[in-house]
Amino acid sequence: MKKHKRKLKKLPVLIISLLIIILIICFIFFNKKDSLIKVEYDNNIEIDINKEVYNTDYIHKISNGTLKTSKQQIDTSKLGHQIIEFIIIDDNNKEHTYSYEINIVDKEKPIINYTKSLETKEGTKIDLLKDVTVTDNSKEEIIPTIEGEYNINVPGTYTLTYIAKDSSNNETKEEFTLKVNPISSNPSNPDQTFTTSKGFKGVIKNGITYIDGYLVVNKTYSLPKDYAPGLDKTTKEAFDKMNAAAKLEGLNIWLQSGFRSYDTQKRIYNSYVSQDGQKNADTYSARPGHSEHQSGLAFDVNQINDSFIGTPEAIWLENNCYKYGFILRYPKGKENITGYQYESWHFRYVGKELATKLYNNGNWITMEEYFGITSEYQ
Ligand code: DAL
Ligand code: ZN
Repeated sequence: MKKHKRKLKKLPVLIISLLIIILIICFIFFNKKDSLIKVEYDNNIEIDINKEVYNTDYIHKISNGTLKTSKQQIDTSKLGHQIIEFIIIDDNNKEHTYSYEINIVDKEKPIINYTKSLETKEGTKIDLLKDVTVTDNSKEEIIPTIEGEYNINVPGTYTLTYIAKDSSNNETKEEFTLKVNPISSNPSNPDQTFTTSKGFKGVIKNGITYIDGYLVVNKTYSLPKDYAPGLDKTTKEAFDKMNAAAKLEGLNIWLQSGFRSYDTQKRIYNSYVSQDGQKNADTYSARPGHSEHQSGLAFDVNQINDSFIGTPEAIWLENNCYKYGFILRYPKGKENITGYQYESWHFRYVGKELATKLYNNGNWITMEEYFGITSEYQ
């Protein structure tokens, strides 16, 4: 009897033990297939910024399961770490989440596209960034800096360096030379120098006025009668670049009037004077010797009259020309400073550096205001 009782006492323990064993067997059975999933994939991967990669590129082999996550491009546009998750379905249709870590890095140096040797005339400013472009895998806009000393008033060959750096401090340096060619001075017409009211140095060489290295022509400063350089090459190239950019925006810009000789300007001016009287003509047409068109650095586009104002082309040019080194030479509201009415069609090449300053975030400053000079017939 005692023995039987002891047996009875052990029974619940036995049942519980049996249940646990059954549970363990079931657990092992149902998880058997899961444990057979095997995935081979990369982890802690370094990827170059803006590289085209896909989430599945780093998963190499899956055994006993299929990839549920579809192939998707990874956003590699920002530097830093990211966790990429993917799901695998086992043979029991159960989902399992895996993940790997990537690190977007930028180890590539920018590439500088440039001209190895540049030339300018003594006293004539040159935009050293004119034809320089920088490309980089980061897709950032990189404006190079220039290292080295030079003086456009002292002829010689200068070795300078472009430096381009991206935001990850990858740096490229490229050497180039700037040759400043001397202007043969004319003993019967020696250089005259002056300082403007804003402290800029001016020099009149062979009858041509340069202020801070920029050729200036207005009602005060004239050009010699025989000065006939034609349309300046740099100006034409910059115009072509600007025109190509405008075309991409669906705009149609054409050169209407570029270089004009003294005689051509004389004919144009005189015809306006006979039509309109000198006082009126002087508000919109330059006297011969005083037109910027004679410099080869200025041109008119499309319609040379007020019908051009407000056209998509005029609006675009007014807001974008500075990026190509041009200024709107006779802005609205500056008639008393430039001496001319608003000309939405007349642009002058000065290079990107000065053009950006004069653009003044859309609030055009004139050359007269910037240099501190007048535009008045003597
Ligand atoms: N229309 C400008 C001022 C010129 O004649 O040069
Ligand atoms: Zn003009």
